[in-house]
Amino acid sequence: MQYSLKSADPGKIECGCLVVFAFAEQLSPEAKIIDTASDGALSSLLIDSGLGKKKSGSAMLYHPANVATASVMLVQVGEKAGLEIARLEKALAGAVTQARALPIESLLLCLASARPKGMTLMEYFQFTARVCENTGYRYDTTKADDSPPSQLAGITLHTGKSKHLMPAHRALKLGLAISHGESLARQLANLPANICTPSYLAEQAKVLGKAHDLKVKILDEEKMEKLGMGALLSVSKGSDEPARLIVMEYRGGKDDGAPVLLVGKGLTFDSGGISIKPAAKMDEMKYDMCGGASVFGALRAVAEMELPINVVGIIPSSENLINGKANKPGDVVTSMSGKTIEILNTDAEGRLILCDALSYAERYDPALVVDIATLTGAVIIALGDKASGLMANDQKLANALLKAGEQSGDRVWQLPIWADYQKQLDSNFADMANVGGRPAGAITAACFLARFTKKYRWAHLDIAGTAWCGGTEKGATGRPVPLLCQFLLNHYHKAV
Ligand code: BES
Ligand code: MN
Ligand code: ZN
Repeated sequence: MQYSLKSADPGKIECGCLVVFAFAEQLSPEAKIIDTASDGALSSLLIDSGLGKKKSGSAMLYHPANVATASVMLVQVGEKAGLEIARLEKALAGAVTQARALPIESLLLCLASARPKGMTLMEYFQFTARVCENTGYRYDTTKADDSPPSQLAGITLHTGKSKHLMPAHRALKLGLAISHGESLARQLANLPANICTPSYLAEQAKVLGKAHDLKVKILDEEKMEKLGMGALLSVSKGSDEPARLIVMEYRGGKDDGAPVLLVGKGLTFDSGGISIKPAAKMDEMKYDMCGGASVFGALRAVAEMELPINVVGIIPSSENLINGKANKPGDVVTSMSGKTIEILNTDAEGRLILCDALSYAERYDPALVVDIATLTGAVIIALGDKASGLMANDQKLANALLKAGEQSGDRVWQLPIWADYQKQLDSNFADMANVGGRPAGAITAACFLARFTKKYRWAHLDIAGTAWCGGTEKGATGRPVPLLCQFLLNHYHKAV
């Protein structure tokens, strides 16, 4: 898709289809310009089509009088008051998706007035570009794509004022970069687990490294053994696929600049192990590597944005299966930190692979560490699919992630990790147990990780509820790539 920016009179710009919003029964300011030029054609459309009384949807007007565009798509976004990002995204993505299915070659989006409260104009253009580009993602790697090819080749964003053209260029570049990161994360996540193995992810890291000048290091099981990563290796022992620890380094900042570390759970399939999961929806456990996929996506985006910071991605990757060597409930393993862990439930494997990766992270002397993991079903009970769970040992860092979530629309909500919860992890046979019982399951999982992150500022994102959708729309969402990218953008702007 080709993208461009314009600020001239929208009525005078030639294009296949001009897109404007309606706010309930009101036309947006941009729509009013077209309406006035075409003698009230859009006001009539809003009433005659019934669109004004609807909460969403759109209506088309072909060959309007006195304006240069061949057609107008009027899109209902609902009341302007309280317009939030989720509603806007739905309307915008719906409009572009519809345009892709019509015989239209170029779109002109005149939407600058539909900016939600709290979003800067540049964040809004960044968001718009990202959402437009995201509508192009399709999974067809293992499936025939029988949908007819779209004719849509160009999207122009109308910036309103001409002085916004220059900064909007940067916003456009950032939005597209983030979208490309989201697509990469979605693609890796959607691949089935018989293709997307730990070794496959390691190969893809090398591919990404080549394309974007990242330094890539792959640690095999022998190296991990030497480092004493007994927790991680206890999980991969139960499967024929060898584990990998993937390290990707983006060096855009000063040589001695402390890096931001992103540590993503890369569990390519989670059967639960001996504490086996029920059969229903077990296929969705191919998505247990979405944390790792989001690290791939964020690094790709950061490289494309050319951010002048240092970012290191670390992805512990393994399967959680069952063979004669698999972990058994009651087994005690020794982590890289030297601490011992009693494995009371083999399905709490994410924390086992993450704790060793988090110990390994110490050697980078990081400015801060964010881990991203589909860690617990409990976080879905707490927050559903709207927000990722956030837990941190540093409130400033937590606040920065909360803010980035609001800015990007990829929201997080904080849960406490008070010391009182730690008791739930007591074990009679090891320094800690790997599970803390049913109450506060998302919190006790984070409390477990907190024992391995004492040497640096750390935040944990539990993305079990947000990383993919089930049902007929089954597929990876790309979250939390937008959140991570916004966080890194802010970090570079010294907001942390
Ligand atoms: N990968 C799962 C978490 C998960 C479950 C994500 C369902 C998305 C949907 C994780 O490895 C797991 O199995 N966690 C257990 C922990 C429990 C045994 C303490 C869980 O949440 O049930
Ligand atoms: Mn599990
Ligand atoms: Zn898991």
